[in-house]
Amino acid sequence: MSSLPGSLQAALEQVEHGERELLAAPNEIRLREVYAAYLGPNGSIKNVFQEALKAAPKEQKKDIGKAGNDARARLDAAFERRLRAFAEEERAKELARAVDVTLPGRAAGVRRLGHLHPITLTRREIERIFAALGFTVESGPEVETDFYNFEALAMPKDHPARDMQDTFYVAGLEDVVLRTHTSPVQIRTMLAQPPPVRAIMPGAVYRKDDDPTHSPMFHQVEGLLVDEHVTLADLKGVLLHFARAFFGPAANVRLRPSFFPFTEPSAEVDISCVFCSGDGQRDGKPCRLCKGTGWMEVGGSGMVDPEVFAHVGYDAERYTGFAFGFGIDRMAMLKYGVNDIKLLYDGDARFLAQFPALGAR
Ligand code: DAH
Repeated sequence: MSSLPGSLQAALEQVEHGERELLAAPNEIRLREVYAAYLGPNGSIKNVFQEALKAAPKEQKKDIGKAGNDARARLDAAFERRLRAFAEEERAKELARAVDVTLPGRAAGVRRLGHLHPITLTRREIERIFAALGFTVESGPEVETDFYNFEALAMPKDHPARDMQDTFYVAGLEDVVLRTHTSPVQIRTMLAQPPPVRAIMPGAVYRKDDDPTHSPMFHQVEGLLVDEHVTLADLKGVLLHFARAFFGPAANVRLRPSFFPFTEPSAEVDISCVFCSGDGQRDGKPCRLCKGTGWMEVGGSGMVDPEVFAHVGYDAERYTGFAFGFGIDRMAMLKYGVNDIKLLYDGDARFLAQFPALGAR
């Protein structure tokens, strides 16, 4: 040992210095930095010993090697000691932390379940009822061309029926409209397949209307059934089944003569009032939902006009069909007793929370 080279004497002093530095490291990060500075891959002490070992004559190598190992062991020990001290400090801190068991819990991670929108609930319910009858669910674009929205439904440009469906046009494109009803999906569905057809077509539609029972954007569901030998009795039977499945087994249906350009004959569809059970009276007064009539109007219907079949290339001699169009928002309002359509679109959580939570159905 007495014959260690001078450079190593200096290195041994460094070891002492390193030991002190390690033991004084203020935190674990600093501790690891200091350790690496001495003994890491480029650590100063490590290098010094390696160099000395290489340069030394044979008889000194053993002593130098031993001195190097001692130096490493001392620094390792200091490192371990300081590391353990940090762990103990942490643990002591944990143990000392006072918990106030009387505080209410913070419910971390608990999410309130959301709700399906009443219109979504209604649409899904309608789809479920018709799917059970073998109807498919089809959809079409909300931005339509004049051809699908009007022309192919036997409403040429100057037809007076267009007045009732004044809508939004796309600026600069006079043939492009926001669809005013779901009826254009009838045309698209028939163009895409030969008869028979059994489909419902729900979706958003647009009109220039805005009051407590009308919103500029609302929802309809269209129905279409085309086959051989389809009659008005089939229409009424399907509507009656639907009304009872949706509003309850006591519901009744009434068809009232009407006019639509794309059906002949045409009828308004009324369902017996859910509020007064069709009596027209409630608590001795005229029912306010059906205004004393006992009936609620839910949409239009009829037998598909042969002119519509001509537009889609169906043989009107062989096939007949019925169609209907209902307001989904209106049915949601009737079913859930909502008196202002705006409630459906305001997004007020206090209103929406009254519908079944997700997962509750
Ligand atoms: N599209 C009509 C409207 O929005 C409703 C309608 C009436 C649809 C008769 C039909 C139908 O399919 O046959 O006013």
